[in-house]
Amino acid sequence: MVYQRVEDIPKEKLPVHIGLIMDGNGRWAAVRGLPRNAGHKKGTDTFGKLMKHCREIGIKYVTVYAFSTENWKRPKEEVDALMGLLRNYLEDTFKHQEEDARICFLGDREPLSEDIKQKIQKVEEASRRNTAITINIALNYGGRDEIVHAVKALAHKCMQGELSLGQIDEEMVSNHLYTAGQPDPDLIIRPSGEYRLSNFLTWQSAYSELVFLNVLWPDFTPADLDMAILEYEKRDRRFGGI
Ligand code: FPP
Repeated sequence: MVYQRVEDIPKEKLPVHIGLIMDGNGRWAAVRGLPRNAGHKKGTDTFGKLMKHCREIGIKYVTVYAFSTENWKRPKEEVDALMGLLRNYLEDTFKHQEEDARICFLGDREPLSEDIKQKIQKVEEASRRNTAITINIALNYGGRDEIVHAVKALAHKCMQGELSLGQIDEEMVSNHLYTAGQPDPDLIIRPSGEYRLSNFLTWQSAYSELVFLNVLWPDFTPADLDMAILEYEKRDRRFGGI
């Protein structure tokens, strides 16, 4: 069945979990002669619009890549601007919770500033029972770092005698990732014309369908998301079978 519009897709056939790599903010700003941070600001507005759209069309989980473990290499001014946008988002989200979204943060929080850590905790706690959509924000996140974190947790349990080596299987590894208890992404979308995953959901993306679009993240619209979903619907997912 080839669908022309996302509204025609039966709910049970929609991707349950979509991953979004929000890439191209810097280039968006550069072509306009603006500072990079203007691209991140516009990218944050795009993020808000897209989350609303995902909820409206019935997507249950979305993971966005907001800041990678490698992004600390950027100039301090840019890192500070990104953390400032995040701070504003956390404050707004805490005040307005009518969207019924559960917000979760994926990644190592340790290097984040104390106020951001506290705001994250408050937002996660306050939105814990929301059910319309789960929005995962990958922050100081790296797929390999996440796997190392899980391996250490499992090794620790083995050393404590809580676990034997024979008990470790794929499900157990999944349950020690930041996404524990959540389904793997069905679809990962990367705009901006780059064709790689850049350490995003490394374990979880084993069977994800990938869609690459040639639009910069700040210009990404709900119609682009719909286009990626329609492309996903055409794919034949076999998960290693025939
Ligand atoms: C990649 O574009 C984008 C980022 C590293 C930051 C993405 C973050 C946001 C859009 C802010 C999100 C905020 C919240 C509240 C979730 P780039 O700067 O690498 O673009 P370039 O490749 O064109 O330089």
